[in-house]
Amino acid sequence: MIVVFSLHICKRIFQSLNSFTAINMIRAGRKFSRLPTLVGAIVAFVIFLFLVALISPDAGPGGGSYYERLSELSTWTVNQSVILTDYLDLSNPHTFLLQPEQQISYNGNPENLTSPFCGPAVQILIMITSAPNNSLSRNAIRETWGSRNYIWPKGVRLAFVLGRSTNETIQKRVTKEAEEFQDIVQEDFLDTYHNLTLKSMAMLKWINLTCSVNNDMSSSPVWVLKSDDDMFINVDRLLKVAHDNPNSKMIGRLTCGALPIKDKNSKLYMPKYLYPSPVYPGYLSGTAYLLRGDMVPTLLDNSLTIPLIHLEDIYVTAILARQSQFFPDDSPFFTYNRLNPKDQCAFRYMVTSHQVTPIEMRSIWTNLTKRLPVPCSPKKQTWLRRIPKMTKRYRKLCSFPQ
Ligand SMILES: *[C@@H]1O[C@H](CO)[C@@H](O)[C@H](O)[C@H]1NC(C)=O
Ligand SMILES: *[C@@H]1O[C@H](CO)[C@@H](O)[C@H](O)[C@H]1NC(C)=O
Ligand SMILES: *[C@@H]1O[C@H](CO)[C@@H](O)[C@H](O)[C@H]1NC(C)=O
Ligand SMILES: *[C@@H]1O[C@H](CO)[C@@H](O)[C@H](O)[C@H]1NC(C)=O
Ligand SMILES: *[C@@H]1O[C@H](CO)[C@@H](O)[C@H](O)[C@H]1NC(C)=O
Ligand SMILES: *[C@@H]1O[C@H](CO)[C@@H](O)[C@H](O)[C@H]1NC(C)=O
Ligand SMILES: *[C@@H]1O[C@H](CO)[C@@H](O)[C@H](O)[C@H]1NC(C)=O
Repeated sequence: MIVVFSLHICKRIFQSLNSFTAINMIRAGRKFSRLPTLVGAIVAFVIFLFLVALISPDAGPGGGSYYERLSELSTWTVNQSVILTDYLDLSNPHTFLLQPEQQISYNGNPENLTSPFCGPAVQILIMITSAPNNSLSRNAIRETWGSRNYIWPKGVRLAFVLGRSTNETIQKRVTKEAEEFQDIVQEDFLDTYHNLTLKSMAMLKWINLTCSVNNDMSSSPVWVLKSDDDMFINVDRLLKVAHDNPNSKMIGRLTCGALPIKDKNSKLYMPKYLYPSPVYPGYLSGTAYLLRGDMVPTLLDNSLTIPLIHLEDIYVTAILARQSQFFPDDSPFFTYNRLNPKDQCAFRYMVTSHQVTPIEMRSIWTNLTKRLPVPCSPKKQTWLRRIPKMTKRYRKLCSFPQ
C-alpha cells in the first residue's frame, strides 16, 4: 500500500519538478541549476515518507475520514443535486441579469442578427470570470491589455462573467458598470468560490445562445479563452499560440496525475461522494485555457448528463472534455504561477501570468507597450527554444487517452 502511494508521490515530485524548473527559468535574476532543485526534491521526498510513516491513516485528525475524503462539504452537501440544470437553465436567455446589448442587425434583416462577440472574424473571445465586487480589477484590464482600442483591431473581444451578489450596493454598481461598458454578462446564481463551475457553464451558455444563428454555431468565434480577473494576458502571444495549434481543441497549462486534495480545510478539498476516483484525469489550469468555439455546444450538451463538481477546471477541461472525445493540449507559455512583475522578459514571452494586482497590471502594461529592448538572459533564451520539445515530453507523460 505504502509502496504504491510512494510511487505516486515520486511521480508527483517528478512532475512538479518539471513545471517548477520551467517557471524558475523564466524568472529574472534567478540562477538556474538542476542540482539544488534535485537535492531539494529528494529531501522533500524523505520528509514526506517520514510524515507518512508518522501519521498512519487511523491516527490523523478526524480519524480515517481525513484521509479517505469522507468529510462533507458545507457548500456541496451529500444530498445536494449535482445536476447542472437544477442551477442553470441552459436554453433560457431570460435568466441573465445583465448582458451586453450585442444584437446588431445587418441590413435590417432580423434573421441576420449577430453580435460583435461572435462570428468567424472573432479570432478569440476572451471571457474573464470576475466577482461582482472586483470592479478595480475589471477597470485595470479595460485600461491595459484588454482595452478595446488595442484588442478589437486584432479580432479579439473581451467580456466579463459574473454571478449574483447579495449586496444591493454592489449589485447596483455592477448594473451601472455594465451599462457604461457593455461588456458584462451576469447570470442568476450566487457568486461564490464553490460556484465557479456554474460560472464557467454560464459562460458557455451565453456564448451558445448569443452566437447561434439559425440554430447552428456557424457564428461562433474561432477560439474562446476562459480566464480570471487577476491574470495578465499577452494578447499577441495568445494569438500566436492559437494560430500555431490549429488542430487543438483545448490549450493551456496541463497537469497530469494530480490527486484529489484530502485536507477538508483546503478550498480544493474534494469529497469522495463528489469525485470517487483516486486521481484526476489530465486537466488544464482554470487560470486560463483556450477552447475552440465550435466545441461549445458539445461541451454544453454533455454537461446535461455529467454530475457537477465544484472544481471548475477539472470539470470542464478534464471531465467534460473527455466525455466530448477530446483531450487538452499543454502549452508551457500558459503559467498559473505568479511571475516577478519586474521581469519584462517573462511578460514579453508568456501568454499568461497569475496573481497580478491592478497596480502591477498597469505598470507591466506601460513597460510592455514601450517596446524597449527585451532584457532576456541567454539562459532564458535557451529555455524558450526548448519549449516545443518539453511540450512533447509532457504529453507523453500524460499518456492520453487516459
Ligand atoms: C440524505 O438523504 C437520505 C435519504 O433522503 C437520508 O437518509 C440521509 O440522512 C441524508 N443525508 C444527509 C447527510 O443529510
Ligand atoms: C442574411 O441572411 C440571408 C438569408 O437568411 C442571407 O442570404 C444573407 O447572406 C445574410 N446576410 C448577411 C450579411 O449575413
Ligand atoms: C469590495 O471591494 C472593496 C475594495 O475594492 C472593499 O473595500 C470592500 O470591503 C469590498 N466589499 C465587500 C462587501 O466585500
Ligand atoms: C455591501 O457592499 C458595500 C460596498 O463594498 C459595503 O460597504 C457594505 O458594508 C456591504 N454591505 C453588506 C451588508 O455586506
Ligand atoms: C450556488 O448558486 C446557487 C444558485 O444561486 C445557490 O443556490 C447555491 O447556494 C450556491 N452555492 C454556493 C456554494 O454558493
Ligand atoms: C446550443 O446551441 C445549439 C444551437 O446552436 C442548440 O441546438 C443547443 O441545444 C444548445 N445547447 C444547449 C445545451 O442549450
Ligand atoms: C519598467 O521599466 C523600467 C525601466 O526599464 C524598470 O525600471 C521598471 O522596473 C519596469 N517595471 C516593471 C513593472 O516592469
